[in-house]
Amino acid sequence: MNRPAGGSARAVAHSNIALAKYWGKTDAPDNRTAVPSLSLTLDALRTVTTVELDPALEADRATLDDLLVEGRPLQRIVDVLDALRARAATTSRARVRSYNSFPTASGLASSASGFAALVVAASAALGLELDTPTLSSLARASSASAARSLYGGFVALGAAADAAEPIAGADHWQVRMLVALTSRSEKPISSTEGMVHTRNTSPYYAAWLASAPGLYDEIRRGVLSRDLEMVGPAMQQSALMMHASMMAARPAVLYFTPATLATMGAVQALCAAGTPAYFTMDAGPHVKVLTTTEHAGEVEQRLRAVEGVHEVVVCAPGPAARLLADDEEP
Ligand code: DP6
Repeated sequence: MNRPAGGSARAVAHSNIALAKYWGKTDAPDNRTAVPSLSLTLDALRTVTTVELDPALEADRATLDDLLVEGRPLQRIVDVLDALRARAATTSRARVRSYNSFPTASGLASSASGFAALVVAASAALGLELDTPTLSSLARASSASAARSLYGGFVALGAAADAAEPIAGADHWQVRMLVALTSRSEKPISSTEGMVHTRNTSPYYAAWLASAPGLYDEIRRGVLSRDLEMVGPAMQQSALMMHASMMAARPAVLYFTPATLATMGAVQALCAAGTPAYFTMDAGPHVKVLTTTEHAGEVEQRLRAVEGVHEVVVCAPGPAARLLADDEEP
């Protein structure tokens, strides 16, 4: 994953969607998750990031889809760069340019692919030779789900773990994850804030902490044995238990919209009629649907017919984060 200190590097990382969710952090100050999670890296949702060191710059500068990044989002990027600069013993500031293949800040886990691509590109630009667990740990300190995007396929992040670990490669199980986009607007509350608020005010948070590890074990076993009938219902319960803990916070953390509920209903109806299709939702209004390769076309048609769904992205298991050569297409 490394190249000599040339001062510039470009990387691609793919987003991931958790089949077994985490929600909440431990008491440790370095952003470790309170429960274990297991995700699928997705081929169609990716971030390409270029990092260029420039000793003439007075401060780090970042753009996302050509828009200047400022405030808290910029600070999170600067924190990653500072951690890497400390390892490289340099103070040189950087120009960071990122492009997403999907809408930012809409619950599509842009922080996951974004921070994974950033650590890979920035460490290479600084001439650091870091192994993947170290890169995953650095990404986790910024955004816990980003730790999982360093790897392709099926990836676990243990409770309080420092780094993610690959469970099975992208070719282990040819499932499809269909992402039904139900909104064009930004999410009302960031996941980081939503987690703290849920932990502090929700009487259901303790129940979530108690239940999540069992669901994780079930989903992990189901993934390893390629058993969709085992993974699907447990994945739905993981998402709904996570959202139930948020909804019981005061005030409630509510990411669902009418289109979210309509999509969930359509997936339940498909499943009841014999089509293997299961939903999951993150910190946003979109619905992601896990199904087989064989049924992906039928499920896509059904999702496109739901009122409020304006796009459906069909994803296959995706690859690990990696550096890109100068003119290489991601
Ligand atoms: C709901 O990675 O966005 O997607 O760690 O605070 O940056 P921070 O949050 P983020 O977490 C989102 C969590 C989730 C569930 C999951 O991915 O497991």
